[in-house]
Amino acid sequence: MKILKGTILSFKKNPFFNNIEESVNIIEDGGILIKNGIIAEVDNFLTIKKKNPLAKTYDYGRHLITAGFIDCHMHYPQTGIISSFGKRLINWLNVYTFPEEKKFIDPEYASKIASLTLNLCLQNGTTTVSSFCTSSPTSVNKFFEEANKREMCVVAGKTCMNRNAPEYLLDTVNSSYDESKKLIEKWHKTNRLVYAISPRFAPTSTPKQLECLGNLWSEFPDCLMQTHLSEQEEEIHWVKNLFPNAKNYLNVYEQFDLVRENSIFGHCIHLSDKELDILQERNSSVAHCPTSNLFIGSGIFNLKSFNKKKIKVGLATDTGGGTFFSMLKTMSETYKISQLSQFSIHPAQLLWLATMGSSTALNLQKEIGNIEKNYFADLNVIDLSSTQEIDQRKSRANNIWEAIFPTLIMGDDRAIISTWVNGNEI
Ligand code: GUN
Ligand code: ZN
Repeated sequence: MKILKGTILSFKKNPFFNNIEESVNIIEDGGILIKNGIIAEVDNFLTIKKKNPLAKTYDYGRHLITAGFIDCHMHYPQTGIISSFGKRLINWLNVYTFPEEKKFIDPEYASKIASLTLNLCLQNGTTTVSSFCTSSPTSVNKFFEEANKREMCVVAGKTCMNRNAPEYLLDTVNSSYDESKKLIEKWHKTNRLVYAISPRFAPTSTPKQLECLGNLWSEFPDCLMQTHLSEQEEEIHWVKNLFPNAKNYLNVYEQFDLVRENSIFGHCIHLSDKELDILQERNSSVAHCPTSNLFIGSGIFNLKSFNKKKIKVGLATDTGGGTFFSMLKTMSETYKISQLSQFSIHPAQLLWLATMGSSTALNLQKEIGNIEKNYFADLNVIDLSSTQEIDQRKSRANNIWEAIFPTLIMGDDRAIISTWVNGNEI
């Protein structure tokens, strides 16, 4: 048994739809009791210590303890090409992404990049990611193996594409079905791993492939389905040409039964009201990828329009289209982008997006994303004075939110002083 001591921040309710005081629980000199990797109790430290005198204490003083961050959309095979200078999405995919993804048929290279990526995530306090792999099953096997070594909860899947990409990355209708099925049978729900059926996006799949993946999903309905939706104007025009009978971009996925409660759509920047209505009706989720949307020049995500319909939104880096592994930096860009739509996101809401927002988007909200009894002990210890520029601002704070906000806006991996996965300090 272990006890973490610090200032504990957890959620009682969603702070977008309830007032902040009702939504957030903050315990100064709090304690988290961990048994077998699971949170057994959250209370004042002294209360917990008295009941469990033999438990080992990890004293983090006044540092902030939150749930581990959850990055609900990223591409681990793109770690090596992060920050690649380029033009627009399709050009960037062709010039940088596809040639890099080719390398993941090599098991050694796939292991090396999977390991590097997960280490970078953990250094930044990210304890769960949902990652696309490449079309090669090796890339999936190696990613799950590395996640298992670290006892992490991750979501991943083979990226299916049978057209409009270089020949060396293409699968077929049959091989995408067979390989995905084999991977589901091997990995889904073993340890802390979750499989996501992963058509890359509508332009790289034929209707037959999308139909076949929809059928596969019906065989394994508790898997997730992740893909991209409405990221750039050129992509949307391309989809219109490729699927002339579809009413809109989302309708392409809808036609093949890929819009369900366990669907998570990356980007969703240029959606029509009709598409928002469908997402709401199906209770599907959206991954907001602010650093990528700026870097690739995709556009301004309008969080308010999703909140209005209570559509589930999680936060994501989309690395290597995104430019940071850090969810702190991702929160900072989230705040700035929302400012452009006259919506100032409260620090509690930013932290919600990076934890419970993402876990809810991945349908894992009962296991991760909060500090609560029976949740996995995936935790972050955050120094709110990690740099001089942050500390000098924090020293003027009049309340806890003013103390936290400078780290959400200016913080990076230097603020993450300890990360816990499955009850163990990394
Ligand atoms: N759309 C299809 N594939 C990708 C990808 O790898 N990255 C981003 N940002 N968008 C995509
Ligand atoms: Zn993506």
